[in-house]
Amino acid sequence: MKSGFFILEGVEAAGKTTQLRLIGSALGDLGYDVLASREPGGTAIGERIRAVLLDPGNEGTIQPLTSMLLFNASRRQWMHEVVEPALAAGKIVIGDRSFLSTMAYQSYVEGLDPVFTREVCMRAMGGRMPDRIFLLDIPPEEIRRRLTKDAADKTSRYDVMDDAFHARVREGYLAQRDVFPGLIERIDGAAPPEEIARTIVGRMTDIMG
Ligand SMILES: Nc1ncnc2c1ncn2[C@@H]1O[C@H](COP(=O)(O)OP(=O)(O)OP(=O)(O)O)[C@@H](O)[C@H]1O
Ligand SMILES: [Mg+2]
Repeated sequence: MKSGFFILEGVEAAGKTTQLRLIGSALGDLGYDVLASREPGGTAIGERIRAVLLDPGNEGTIQPLTSMLLFNASRRQWMHEVVEPALAAGKIVIGDRSFLSTMAYQSYVEGLDPVFTREVCMRAMGGRMPDRIFLLDIPPEEIRRRLTKDAADKTSRYDVMDDAFHARVREGYLAQRDVFPGLIERIDGAAPPEEIARTIVGRMTDIMG
């Protein structure tokens, strides 16, 4: 079986975790050995960094550069401890977020220099790029609808940002298609979940050949 490295991206509530589950089980049914993991986190060090990054109590104190370096610190551990060993073992790795989030949030929205941010991200990736990034895209009104519906489960400092913030993040993601030509595929995140999963699984199997 071929290995593959794919990332799911998108704004808050775009459906990344939902798709990770659906795609993971669909690929499992096809006989693939799948490892699903999230960023930041996925390792003991990474989960501790994640807690600092997403703590709503740090909003207003944490600097964009601090966030960017911490996200990449978690990322470095994740690549080394999770992704590389899984790829070496012939698995399909599917990540819930990665460096494209850093480019959208810390660079495009929070204003860090894109060239520098990209360089740090690439160092953290250790020269390994995903085979494809699937960008789950939903319009601002759908983001609002989903975040309102799930208000009780929201614990991340990003979930409680205003509509303008989420709209800017979305714009930041879409703009990355010109920064990383050929890497990113926009997926209509407003389609029914099972339909999205079928589309992405089809693309993954095509890409792996
Ligand atoms: N295709 C879809 N259509 C309608 N609702 C969806 C769809 N996919 C997910 N949802 C709903 O949207 C909400 C957010 O989904 P999910 O947790 O998968 O998003 P996420 O991208 O992982 O969010 P976060 O960035 O906060 O982790 C959930 O209530 C989920 O049931
Ligand atoms: Mg999620």
